[in-house]
Amino acid sequence: MPPEPSVAFAPGRVNLIGEHTDYNHGLALPFAIAEGVTVRASAARAGWIYAHARDLGEQDRFAIADPQPCEGWRAFVRGAVAELTGAGVTLAGARLDISGQVPSGSGLSSSAALEVALCMALIALSGGPTLERMQIARLCSRVENEWVGANTGLLDQIASLYGAADTALCIDFRTLSVQPVALALEGWRLAVLDSGERHAHASSGYNQRRAECARACELLGIGSLRDAREAQIAELPEPLRSRAAHVLAENRRVRDAVAALAARDMAALGELLNASHASLRDLYEVSTPAVEATVQRMRAVGATGARIVGGGFGGSVLGLFAPGAQPPPGAREVRPGAGAHLLGR
Ligand code: GLA
Repeated sequence: MPPEPSVAFAPGRVNLIGEHTDYNHGLALPFAIAEGVTVRASAARAGWIYAHARDLGEQDRFAIADPQPCEGWRAFVRGAVAELTGAGVTLAGARLDISGQVPSGSGLSSSAALEVALCMALIALSGGPTLERMQIARLCSRVENEWVGANTGLLDQIASLYGAADTALCIDFRTLSVQPVALALEGWRLAVLDSGERHAHASSGYNQRRAECARACELLGIGSLRDAREAQIAELPEPLRSRAAHVLAENRRVRDAVAALAARDMAALGELLNASHASLRDLYEVSTPAVEATVQRMRAVGATGARIVGGGFGGSVLGLFAPGAQPPPGAREVRPGAGAHLLGR
């Protein structure tokens, strides 16, 4: 009997605050959103994967035993299959039907949604034991690092896997602890506005930023920027000093944001979002003119706080709006929603 088909949904994410901290063993505060990627996996000819990217109208076909590197969405599918096999998941043969609502390159982590949904659907189809969520997160991150060529951290995968309604996740990337933080908006709204500028982490300045942080650690003789002290970083040459200064301050802002949410002080949260944006623009230098114009559109209609979300170099801007304030035309409201899960068959 062929195994029953499986269907998995994995959400994209919005990072409330804590940007470019994950690969520096720092802190971040993301939440999963309602939009995501759905993968339906059904049994197919043994030894083969047939994939259909429904939104693009494109197909792929490859042997499980020999998934060659490839570009675009196919890299994610081939990487997921290869990494799952490497992790001991026995895949017979599968037909994968992929569809989603997170625009690629919009800073809302369509990549993680795709990787996570692929892995969950394939693991369920295999009928073998399921993997721990953190194991899936790490495996998906390897897909991105080794198959897609983006040296991203674990932020997006953890947000997609651990998300829950009305909850942000305070992640400590040193210990990989994930603490739920109540995100009770009480009439306040969060909205994202697309800058229209697309990015691909593999080809943007993302990998370069990561390399700069690694170089800063090397010069300071520390394992990660989490261990850097203000006095030490003053000794670094530019632009490494600015990069490190962003990371240290951004970790503090995550702690302050958790405190602001606990105190239900949304105005303070808005100030933190603005400070994060200024730091990402001036110290980390991941903003662009299109992103700045988008931030201005958010502020012009009265956003209490607005900042670029995700890796930068394009993508979306997050805005926080007080009760009564209207997000600008084209903005989409986002709320913290459920993490990745299997759907009924
Ligand atoms: C991208 C990466 C994440 C993280 C953010 C920046 O979304 O995938 O790992 O580094 O950028 O915070």
